[in-house]
Amino acid sequence: MRHLIDPTDFTVEEINQLMLRALDIIDNRAKYADACRGKKLATLFYEPSTRTRLSFTAAMMELGGNVLGFSDAASSSVSKGETVADTARVISQFADIIAMRHPKEGAPFIASQYASIPVINAGDGGHSHPTQTLTDLLTIRRELGRFDHLTVGLCGDLKYGRTVHSLIKAMGRYEGVKFVLIAPDELRLPDYIKHDVCDANNLEYIEVSTLEEAMPLVDVLYMTRVQEERFEDRAQYLRLRDSFILDTDKMALGKKDMIVLHPLPRVNEITPEVDNDPRAAYFRQVENGKFVRMSLIYTLLEWKTQDTRHETRELVEGDKCSNHRCITTIEPAKNLYYKAENNIWRCIYCDHEK
Ligand code: NCD
Repeated sequence: MRHLIDPTDFTVEEINQLMLRALDIIDNRAKYADACRGKKLATLFYEPSTRTRLSFTAAMMELGGNVLGFSDAASSSVSKGETVADTARVISQFADIIAMRHPKEGAPFIASQYASIPVINAGDGGHSHPTQTLTDLLTIRRELGRFDHLTVGLCGDLKYGRTVHSLIKAMGRYEGVKFVLIAPDELRLPDYIKHDVCDANNLEYIEVSTLEEAMPLVDVLYMTRVQEERFEDRAQYLRLRDSFILDTDKMALGKKDMIVLHPLPRVNEITPEVDNDPRAAYFRQVENGKFVRMSLIYTLLEWKTQDTRHETRELVEGDKCSNHRCITTIEPAKNLYYKAENNIWRCIYCDHEK
């Protein structure tokens, strides 16, 4: 059985297959109308979500399947103290596939270790968001026709923005991709992405401090919201939230055939006038999210007979993870660390340094 916890759980070839199937779904909707008839998707959302949950729901409905679940941890047995491991075991008896969003990093990974059905990570804390990445990839493919030799600008909250982490991991596997990082000092990319993903794979990236510098360079500009809910210091959030605002003046500095993406929700970081620019692809991106989730659900159900991928990293047991957003701070899981770049040990659930 296969799960999607991290975008690199799928090979480049498998991602390609997912994209091709999503494109086939777009062209042949009727062919897939009964593809998941009799199957059930459980949406376990422990954290607020509109588009991701509804996108999963719409995707399963368009495949002819059914959806059950909860959208608020308070209305589930978590409020009675149930572990993610137990919830995953229980839900496996009711559904055929799980999509889980959780504020704690690594929660869907734990679920995948205990579930007997495929688990999809629909966003875990400030860590990863692989289905948003599939959405981004399908959009890039439909808009620009390729993944290689693109310069991707990432702007805003690169520290807590889980969509950014997953997108870099996924795009970094294609030939000639470069990154332009645009973030306030306090919200720069976490070390494990910078060192273990970018440096370890010799990915080219530059850090700039203004959108004006980035605009002429990028083929894709990925705007993100400053993640208010992940800040411990509210004053810091208020100070940083409007650091970068994309407006029509800045768009005028961009390439003619570049595109602007945003996982949404947008707060202030793109002015509404930009929506009228044909290069603003973020609403088309939403629709792609549904198609790619259809492709993903269908494919994971089809792959149910495949072997679960085995852990190949060198692991050691250790003390409790020091990241307060790590699932192991609330779940009685064994604390395991893998050997990363420069012999640094990182938590297998949240990638935080030991
Ligand atoms: C993103 C998320 O949840 O991380 N939203 C989404 O899934 N479309 C981005 C965000 O909340 O800022």
